[in-house]
Amino acid sequence: MARDRDVAAFGERAQGYDEGWRGRMHHQIADGAADLARACAPAPRSVLDVGCGTGYLLGRLAACFPQAEVLAGIDAAPAMIEVARAAAADDRLRFVAGTAERLPWPAASFDLVVTTTSFDHWADQRAGLAECARVLAPGGCLVLADLFSALLLPTLLAGRRAKARTRRRATRLLTATGLHSPHWHRLYAVIIQAVTATK
Ligand SMILES: C[S@@+](CC[C@H](N)C(=O)[O-])C[C@H]1O[C@@H](n2cnc3c(N)ncnc32)[C@H](O)[C@@H]1O
Repeated sequence: MARDRDVAAFGERAQGYDEGWRGRMHHQIADGAADLARACAPAPRSVLDVGCGTGYLLGRLAACFPQAEVLAGIDAAPAMIEVARAAAADDRLRFVAGTAERLPWPAASFDLVVTTTSFDHWADQRAGLAECARVLAPGGCLVLADLFSALLLPTLLAGRRAKARTRRRATRLLTATGLHSPHWHRLYAVIIQAVTATK
């Protein structure tokens, strides 16, 4: 299960999530992730956003990928999914409530899996990444953007001890799931970075 406290807090913020400076920051991160996704998977038929929030990134990807047949989003906070469904402007978009650790799709369902600023909240990051790898088709691409920086090492001594908040920790988890060729990219400020990896 996801950390209930994190998910409940996101549920409460769902209605105004895209507003203000925080909303603008999340959109800029998502825009950067969309650029990486286009470079990594130029013409995917199926796309999944894990921890999709209000669906902003998936809407961007729907515009980028006219050939895609389905673009699915999953989020642990049902209120986020309600907002995403209400805002969806493309009938290829699908939103479901659920967690990264237990994705409700068969193996090899997606050519592209993206996730932005959600991974750090997953209760079991290893299980969530294993699920992302499982639902990726062979040759498919994962784009993972979140807090990754050596500057965050002090936080690993306290409450977030088990989190993969450095490139080294995240790369280790990714390769353990069988994904390969990890490439790191600076995305936003110093501590938000993204990694792309291939199945
Ligand atoms: C900071 S928001 C990011 C939302 C969106 N991806 C964005 O970039 O704006 C983190 C999201 O991850 C979701 N989340 C937290 N734990 C999760 C989990 N284990 N599985 C799926 N979603 C999760 C939260 O409910 C929340 O909507």
